[in-house]
Amino acid sequence: MGNEFVEHPSHSAEYFGDTRDGWWNRDYVELLARRWGLSRVREVLDIGCGVGHWGRVLGGVLPRAARVTGVDRDPVWVEKATARAAARGEGERFRYQVAVAERLPFEGDTFDLVTCQTVLIHAEDPGAMLSEMVRVTRPGGLVAVAEPNNLASALLSAAALQAPVDETLTLVRFQLLCERGKAALGEGNNSLGELIPELFARHGLTDIQVYLNDKANMMLPPYASAEQRATAEELSDFVRRDFWIWSRPDTRRYFLAGGGEEQDFEACWAAAMAAAQRIAEAIASKRYASAGGSVGYVVSGTKPSPPSSRHMDARVYRNP
Ligand SMILES: C[S@@+](CC[C@H](N)C(=O)[O-])C[C@H]1O[C@@H](n2cnc3c(N)ncnc32)[C@H](O)[C@@H]1O
Repeated sequence: MGNEFVEHPSHSAEYFGDTRDGWWNRDYVELLARRWGLSRVREVLDIGCGVGHWGRVLGGVLPRAARVTGVDRDPVWVEKATARAAARGEGERFRYQVAVAERLPFEGDTFDLVTCQTVLIHAEDPGAMLSEMVRVTRPGGLVAVAEPNNLASALLSAAALQAPVDETLTLVRFQLLCERGKAALGEGNNSLGELIPELFARHGLTDIQVYLNDKANMMLPPYASAEQRATAEELSDFVRRDFWIWSRPDTRRYFLAGGGEEQDFEACWAAAMAAAQRIAEAIASKRYASAGGSVGYVVSGTKPSPPSSRHMDARVYRNP
């Protein structure tokens, strides 16, 4: 249990631990598979695959004949994802390669499903990524992404703390300033989920559907499930390493770029870490309880077929 990658310098390493395996309810993913018509899918492209968590979730509901190609710009993650698939005996079904999402090394109109999870939120230009995703999707194929609104989730965590109003506002304001700064620095908008349907429409996708991931991450003493124990471990590990959502230097950069005042940073950081510390201590003494909600959007859209072939394309996707 834990996160074997936590000290790794690569992107998102702090978030590739066991808690990531608990992001989805299996029956909900089966529902998505029915809504999206995944039984017809054979070729899948998973953009920004990391060590393969999202592809593996989808792999559980894709037909056995479907093949998942994962791409990531970081060779370390590609190597790890390849090793993890091989260790599961799925090295044939899941293939990984290094590629930059904004310049995909694939022919146009290739994949039945092009997808990503928490990748557009890290993009300097999500539109450039989405253009490539649409280009390599075959006409009638599906583009589907899982991207959060992390600011909304911050408010839910603060509510679980039952902190005074001013402290709650300080925490949410701090995160908002940092999110704005991160976006201004070209490192992505952590609450991009909110804007994705419009982005899909602008890129010519049709039949756009938006759902919400129904997984809550409840914490209830005595934290009996492996999932709750993994969350407890991750939270206390973040506190131990003086890590908030981002490292302290990154948080500072984002805060200043988002319009935060230099002289306010230390107080904001102290408030955020004190809140995290309170949660870690309450967990350690089995007093912390939370419904554990978050806002994770699941957005899908169909790549239209060219007008002349539309009436002949029997494989076209229609989301109900
Ligand atoms: C938050 S992780 C998500 C990993 C995976 N999708 C999952 O949900 O487990 C973001 C991943 O996107 C990759 N990434 C970010 N920008 C990228 C780009 N422009 N091209 C390819 N990969 C990218 C990072 O290296 C990282 O592995």
